[in-house]
Amino acid sequence: MVSRVIPVETFDLVIFGGTGDLARRKILPGLFRRFRSGQMPAGSRVIGAARSELDSDGYRQMIFEAIAEFGGDEVHDKKSLDAFLKVLEYVTIDAKGDGGWSELADLVRQDVVQAFYFSVAPSLFGDLAERLHTYGISNDKSRIVVEKPFGRDLASAQALNKTLATHFDESQIYRIDHYLGKETVQNLMAVRFGNVLFEPLWNNQYVDHIQITVAETVSVGGRGAYYDKSGAMRDMVQNHLMQLLCLIAMEPPSHFDADAVRDEKLKVIRALQSVAPHHIVRGQYDADENGPSFREDVENPRSFTESFIAMRCHIANWRWAGVPFYLRTGKRMSARSSEIAVVFKELGHSIFGDEEGNEGRNILAIRLQPNEGMDLQVTIKEPGPGGMRLINVPLDMTFADALGDGAEDVADAYERLIMDVIRGNQTLFMRGDEVEAAWAWTDPLIEGWEARNDVPKLYDPGSAGPGDAMSLLRRDGREWREIKG
Ligand code: BG6
Repeated sequence: MVSRVIPVETFDLVIFGGTGDLARRKILPGLFRRFRSGQMPAGSRVIGAARSELDSDGYRQMIFEAIAEFGGDEVHDKKSLDAFLKVLEYVTIDAKGDGGWSELADLVRQDVVQAFYFSVAPSLFGDLAERLHTYGISNDKSRIVVEKPFGRDLASAQALNKTLATHFDESQIYRIDHYLGKETVQNLMAVRFGNVLFEPLWNNQYVDHIQITVAETVSVGGRGAYYDKSGAMRDMVQNHLMQLLCLIAMEPPSHFDADAVRDEKLKVIRALQSVAPHHIVRGQYDADENGPSFREDVENPRSFTESFIAMRCHIANWRWAGVPFYLRTGKRMSARSSEIAVVFKELGHSIFGDEEGNEGRNILAIRLQPNEGMDLQVTIKEPGPGGMRLINVPLDMTFADALGDGAEDVADAYERLIMDVIRGNQTLFMRGDEVEAAWAWTDPLIEGWEARNDVPKLYDPGSAGPGDAMSLLRRDGREWREIKG
């Protein structure tokens, strides 16, 4: 297999919050993997910036330990790891004061690609942006990277966009939704728009409904304070599930370029109808022998926040009129499993009569995790004599099997997205208007259940969520797909 990797220019990447959880778990181990793959040009540097009093050697030691803990087997490649640690620098910085800024200005070069990763609380975005300018560190080609949560409602997202726009043009701002960096998510676009097979069927004439499931086994333990204020709707639906929905439902963009793709996604969000209360099911996990209940985890015995949500959505346009999109996501469910299933309509007429197994229903399942890949459920004849017996089998394309060695170097979402920042490719990042439109759809739903004092239903840990989530589809004569780990 010949792979074509778009080259990257020499860069200085500054990570504000460089000692934080995200930097240690994801960003630095990811950068090390790209370094090992030869994607970090000679002379590039990664500069950690945070409040902690450390020098560059102390930072290298911290990152060495982080890679040992959160990286993969590549940590045993000592030669590469030593070389990687040499590209790291560190500056102690005071985001709200003057400490460290002149030092940072001396360090960051003006003649290479500059990227500033704001891995800090959004309340600091304005301070950082302003000081990058005041100290003459950034220029009109610099890129800034920001993480979710991008606001907690439309008003706060608008305020954040305004703050960033004071110093940076939209073309310089990279809002990360790490789901867009997942291999399968990009494959979704390749499958839809790179094959003649699917697009003619991708509409309300052939698709019965679509299911999007992001199930997690983890609890909110450790993130209780954040999560109790956020809930599954803000934490997962407004961003990750919404992005998946957009990629599944959008019209073909004229080119695979950033604004063409994002224009089409925006149209989907704007066409999303509001969701009636009886089409929303919210849940909270109960306690079991493996862990405390949601309310105990968030230390709020009266919490009405949801750790699970399922909903039936509709997109009001010609392609999707009448096709339900069922979304669900939750913590402490039976398996860690994320997939999008496109369930096609039944055959209008079967020449095989009532033969058992003759459901004539095709399902395209796109698995994000685990076992990234896709399978297409098709009806075939059961092999052997004895008449025309029909069975449904999956045409399975698990990427690891299909691509052999090529699958080994599949980049993790973060490393892929960071490299796209350096390349200056915004296709997999959210534009400001997209984020605002997503909040504009989300806000009234949240306000609605808050006004109704809606109490989330309890569900058993290790289950598929509250029973009402099952009824949401059964009422429509449909079933959720099994959550398989
Ligand atoms: C994050 C959420 O954005 O995504 C977490 O804040 C969630 O609550 C995580 O656990 C899931 O990401 P992944 O890649 O593990 O599916």
